[in-house]
This record gives sequence, C-alpha cells and structure tokens, in this order.
Amino acid sequence: MVKVRKAVIPAAGLGTRFLPATKSIPKEMLPIVDVPTLQLVVEEALASGIEEIILVTGRGKSAIEDHFDISYELEHTLRERGKKEMLASIERISQMVRVISVRQKEPLGLGHAVLVARQAANDEPVAVMLGDDLYDCDRCARPAIGQLIDAYEKRGGAGVIALLEVPAGQEHLYGVVAGDSAGPGMMRVTDMVEKPAPGTAPSRMSIMGRYVLPSEIWPILAQTKPGKNGEIQLTDALKTLATKHGCYGLAVEGVRHDAGDRLGYLRANLAYALKRDDLKPGLIAIMKQLLEEHSA
Ligand code: UTP
Repeated sequence: MVKVRKAVIPAAGLGTRFLPATKSIPKEMLPIVDVPTLQLVVEEALASGIEEIILVTGRGKSAIEDHFDISYELEHTLRERGKKEMLASIERISQMVRVISVRQKEPLGLGHAVLVARQAANDEPVAVMLGDDLYDCDRCARPAIGQLIDAYEKRGGAGVIALLEVPAGQEHLYGVVAGDSAGPGMMRVTDMVEKPAPGTAPSRMSIMGRYVLPSEIWPILAQTKPGKNGEIQLTDALKTLATKHGCYGLAVEGVRHDAGDRLGYLRANLAYALKRDDLKPGLIAIMKQLLEEHSA
C-alpha cells in the first residue's frame, strides 16, 4: 500500500454565493476571525502528516498563492518595528509546507479540479480537502483528514470518504451514499447520488468535503464524462471507484462548518471566536445585546 503524502485542495470555484466579495477575493481566503479558511485547511493537512499541498486555483485567485509565499516587504517592516509575534505568525505561513499551485482554467466541476492536479500528484494516492469546508477536531484524537488516512491504511489502501448524517429533508443538498455497515462508524459504499431529487435519497449519510483516494482514481477521473450541470463530478468518479475497487465511508468525528455558505460561514466565525479567550467574553456580550435587540 502506498502512503498518502500529498493533499489536493480545490479552490478554483467561482464562489457565487459570496458575491460581490468574491469578485476580487477568493472565498477560500475569507477569514474565520483572522485566519483564512484555506489556511485552516492547510493546517489540518499538516497536522495529519501530509508533506505536500497541491492547491488548485483559478482566475483571480492569486491572493491564495501570495498568502503561502514569503512577503518580503511586510516581514521587513514588522522586523523593523519590533513586532516579533506578528512576524513569527507571518513567517510561519510561508514556512509551513511545500505548496504547489496548479491552475484550473475553467471551473468545470470538482472532479475536473482534482484531475488538474494529476501531474503534480504524480499518480500517487491523495487526500482531497475542499478549500471552503472546515472540520474543527480540537476535541478529537486526530484531525478529520487524519482519521480518513488511518481508515485508508486499515483498509489496505482503499478509498475512504468523509460522511455526515444530515437532517431528514436536506439530502437533496448533498452527495448521498448507500452502503452496508463495515464496523463502527464505517460503511462499504455501494452507490452514490449527487444532490438527489427530494424524497429519492438512498440514505441520510452525505459526503462532506474530505476524501482519501487511491491511485486508481486518476484513470477513472480522466474517463469521467461531464454529468450534472455539464460538470465533471467527483461523485461520478467515486461511484466507479466504489464499483471497480471498493470504497468506504467514514463518519468523521468533529464539528463540520460549511464556510462556502453564508450562514455556515457566519456560524464558523462565531464558533472559532468563542474558542478564543481574548474574544469570547466580548463576543458573548455583543451576541446577548443583539439577541435582545432582535427578539422584540
Ligand atoms: P463549491 O461548489 O462549494 O464552490 O465547491 P463554488 O462553485 O465556488 O461555490 P458557489 O456555489 O458558486 O458559491 C467546493 C470547493 O471546490 C472548489 C471550490 O473552489 C470550493 O473550494 N471547486 C469547485 C473548484 O476548485 N473547481 C470547480 O470547478 C468547482
């Protein structure tokens, strides 16, 4: 079994739900308090043992590359002004990890975005982590993608996808799986449907932003035809992977935040701010005041 060393982070989507902000700022760079969403995703990968990050970016996304690069002028100014802590936090980002960026010229779907990373991944197995999806695993033994990597190794190198049980009636918003139990929190996936029509979902177990994919995924992705909305859907490729080679779903421990959705993004900001001693008391006071003002 080949070790998972690389993570692909697709971040080339248009982010239309965040317009007009995303006209010039990639949605993956919008901050959760003061850290870009994408940095939190990269930190999760590093804490899980990933050695190399392949960022899939697109037009208007140069802020992403700049963020993980050395910022000479800024570092120089902070050094001159004696802002040691700030300087350390800025330097840490550019020293974090080996980051390669590849360009998806058109947003032709998530499957296509992953496929664009094939050459950089050198046909190795990869972790795929959506750049606008957060898992807060502070209270778990391992970060979310680390949990999936462990399951991949336990299953002898089979594909593993993160699952979350969604409330009844919300299945049509997600990719939903069908399958058989394969141990605690684990299922063997037999089928997947991307955004099923209301009332037709095979289960409430939905695919949520993290995947560990074996090398077999590359030729499958290359042969996957455009599906729903004319996009190359990762779900269609995963379905073929499940049929031909087997694929598992793991109910990931941790709190997931959809930072690509406006309410999900606001919730993530509140939840992350409430974890910080410097912000928690002030934020609670503001929230109480706002609740009073708006509950009348
Ligand atoms: P989303 O579907 O949430 O992103 O994709 P989007 O299309 O940018 O969002 P809206 O609906 O217009 O607001 C999940 C992740 O996959 C990336 C996105 O950047 C996001 O991080 N993605 C999606 C790509 O990299 N390429 C694509 O073609 C589609």
